[in-house]
Amino acid sequence: MILVTGATGVVGRHLVELLLAEGVSVRAVTRDPAATLPDGVDAVVGDPSRPATLAAAMQGVHAVFVHPRAMGQGRDPGLIRESTGELLRLARDNGVTKAVAMSALNVDHPLDQQPSRLRGEYNKEVEAATVESGLQWTAVRPGYFATNTITSWAAQIRHGDVVRSAYGQSAWAPLHERDIAAVAAHALLHDDLAGHKPVLTGPEVLTQADMIDAIGKAIGRPLHYEEVPHEAARAAMARGGLPEPIIDGFLKMQAISYLQPGLVSKETENILGRPGLTFAQWAVEHAGAFTP
Ligand SMILES: NC(=O)c1ccc[n+]([C@@H]2O[C@H](COP(=O)([O-])OP(=O)(O)OC[C@H]3O[C@@H](n4cnc5c(N)ncnc54)[C@H](OP(=O)(O)O)[C@@H]3O)[C@@H](O)[C@H]2O)c1
Repeated sequence: MILVTGATGVVGRHLVELLLAEGVSVRAVTRDPAATLPDGVDAVVGDPSRPATLAAAMQGVHAVFVHPRAMGQGRDPGLIRESTGELLRLARDNGVTKAVAMSALNVDHPLDQQPSRLRGEYNKEVEAATVESGLQWTAVRPGYFATNTITSWAAQIRHGDVVRSAYGQSAWAPLHERDIAAVAAHALLHDDLAGHKPVLTGPEVLTQADMIDAIGKAIGRPLHYEEVPHEAARAAMARGGLPEPIIDGFLKMQAISYLQPGLVSKETENILGRPGLTFAQWAVEHAGAFTP
């Protein structure tokens, strides 16, 4: 039995599906008693940031997926490290032998260059607690999620064909969330990633203009990218209803990426033994998010 935290989320939903497809028993954790989860899943209501709520759920489990956002947002980073440690102690005491944490490509970068920290997410602390847990561990370190483009631009794209954004030549290799989940599933099901921190990226580096072009093709409506100064991009995102820390996080990430070439790690492909899923494919699957 594998226990999955963050099971109702962007990565977690795919992870649950992939594990089920491998014939593995899955216990999916959610705080929401009304959450919809696939048939065949053992759904348990609990909050990983309050480990005692999952004490009974650890019984019969041999491996745990630790989702950093599910460890709580906006809490003190020290407390997040402590409660992740507590959750994994509880796991070990109940016979769990393996933990796979989702972390991030940038966890070793200077702390003020990690946009997730502006939102109160502490991937570094969750990863550290997993490494220190005494369990066999893997820390999966994904880079830029393709889903960030929904957060950044969907509101603008739903309302028109012009997308205004700053730092036009900033570039990343966007990752399909199913590939992140596939690597996590691999780490949970096999032992070759034990003690490793694989850095995951998508298969190709794309500028923001490239990504907007791919979204336009996916929704059958040519989109025009217009570079604007930092403050104008900030205002456009604010009009789309994004909270300020998220806007500042994205702009900071764009500004940093503007100065550095994007990175393609190829670890996704090496681990999965197949090509990584492309942004064009992701955009087709998520076209609905960009259409009114
Ligand atoms: N975006 C990027 O480019 C990027 C890159 C690298 C790493 N990351 C990291 O990846 C994580 C986000 O992954 P994701 O998109 O899969 O997450 P997500 O879908 O937003 O959240 C996963 C699940 O966590 C639970 N959750 C959400 N907020 C919570 C809170 N405040 N307290 C407790 N539980 C909460 C929810 O489950 P229930 O409601 O069912 O309990 C949710 O379904 C973040 O830690 C982020 O820093 C992101």
